[in-house]
Amino acid sequence: MTTLTPTIKLNDGTAVPWLAFGTGTALYGRDATNAIRLAVDKGITHLDGAQIYDNEETLGAGIRSAGKPRSELYIVTKLKGLNPGQTVKETLVISLKKLGVDYVDLFLVHSPHPANVDGTLKAVWQGMEEVKREGLARSIGVSNFRVEDLQTVLDGATVVPAVNQIELHPYVWKAAEPIVKFGLEHGITPASYGGQTPLVRAAGGPVDAVLTGIQGRLENACGKSVTPGQVLTKWIIQKGAIVVTTTSKESRIAEFQDTISVPDLTKEEIDAIEEAGSKLHKRIYMKAVFGE
Ligand SMILES: NC(=O)c1ccc[n+]([C@@H]2O[C@H](COP(=O)([O-])OP(=O)(O)OC[C@H]3O[C@@H](n4cnc5c(N)ncnc54)[C@H](OP(=O)(O)O)[C@@H]3O)[C@@H](O)[C@H]2O)c1
Repeated sequence: MTTLTPTIKLNDGTAVPWLAFGTGTALYGRDATNAIRLAVDKGITHLDGAQIYDNEETLGAGIRSAGKPRSELYIVTKLKGLNPGQTVKETLVISLKKLGVDYVDLFLVHSPHPANVDGTLKAVWQGMEEVKREGLARSIGVSNFRVEDLQTVLDGATVVPAVNQIELHPYVWKAAEPIVKFGLEHGITPASYGGQTPLVRAAGGPVDAVLTGIQGRLENACGKSVTPGQVLTKWIIQKGAIVVTTTSKESRIAEFQDTISVPDLTKEEIDAIEEAGSKLHKRIYMKAVFGE
C-alpha cells in the first residue's frame, strides 16, 4: 500500500510534502548518508540540504542508497553565496553534480546577507529566476528573509519566492509573525526550522506547561498518546508552515510523521502557546541577520 504524504501547494502550482528531513544542524559538515537512507526508508520524501552544510555528496549518496525513484523525492538545496564573477547557475550546477540529480525541487537563497547589504540581492534573484526558467530548480525561494529582504526581491521580480524558510517556534513568534504574515499575503509559504527549540534548546521555559496541558486534552480526545513535540509541530502546521526537522532516531521519524493524525489545536490553545512564548525570546540561528 502506498501512503500519500500530505502536501502544501506552492504559489507556482507545485506541491511540497509538509515534513522535511534536514541535513544541517546535527548533520552539518557530516556524512548524512545513513540518516537520509533511514529517513527515506521510513517514508520521508522531502530532503533539506544546503551548499553550506558541506555534505551534499552524502545527501546524494543517501538518496541513491535508499533506491526511491527521483520523481518521488522532493530535494532542496540552498545557495551559499557567490564568489566574484560566479553565477547562481554555476553554483547550482556544482550542487546538482554533488547530489547526483538533474534538478532540485526547490532552491533557496540561504540568507539575505551579505547580498541585501552590498546591493546585489536583486541580481542574485535574477540568477535564481534563470535556474528556474532552465528547469534546474522546479521552484525557487528564500531563507532567513525579513520583510525588508522580501520587499527588495519582490520589487522587479518576475517570479515571487515560493518559500521563506525561517526559524519558527513560539519563542521567536513575536519577531517571526510579521514576516510570516507579509509572506502569506504575497503567496510565500513559510517553512519552519528549529521548531523543537522550546523542548530541545530552551527546556523549562514558559511554553512547557502549556504544551503538557494541551497534550492531555488531545490524548483524551483521540485516545492515543500524543507528545509535547507533536503539539509544537501541530502549532507550526496550523501556522501554514512546512516543517523542517531532523533526527537521529527512527522512533522520532515516526513521531513526526504521525503528527498529521493528531487532532487540531483550538484557537484558545494556539493563543495560549503564543502568550507563553511571548514571555521568553530565544533565537538560536542566524543572529547575524535578525540580531537577537
Ligand atoms: N535555513 C537555515 O538557515 C536553517 C537553519 C537551521 C536549520 N535548518 C534546517 O532545519 C533542519 C532542522 O533544524 P533543527 O535541528 O533546528 O530542527 P528541530 O526540529 O528544532 O530539532 C531537531 C533536533 O532536536 C532533537 N529533538 C527533536 N525532538 C526532541 C525532543 N522531543 N526531545 C529532545 N530532543 C529532540 C533531535 O534530536 P534526536 O536525534 O534526539 O531526535 C534533532 O537533533 C536542519 O537540519 C536544516 O536542514 C535550516
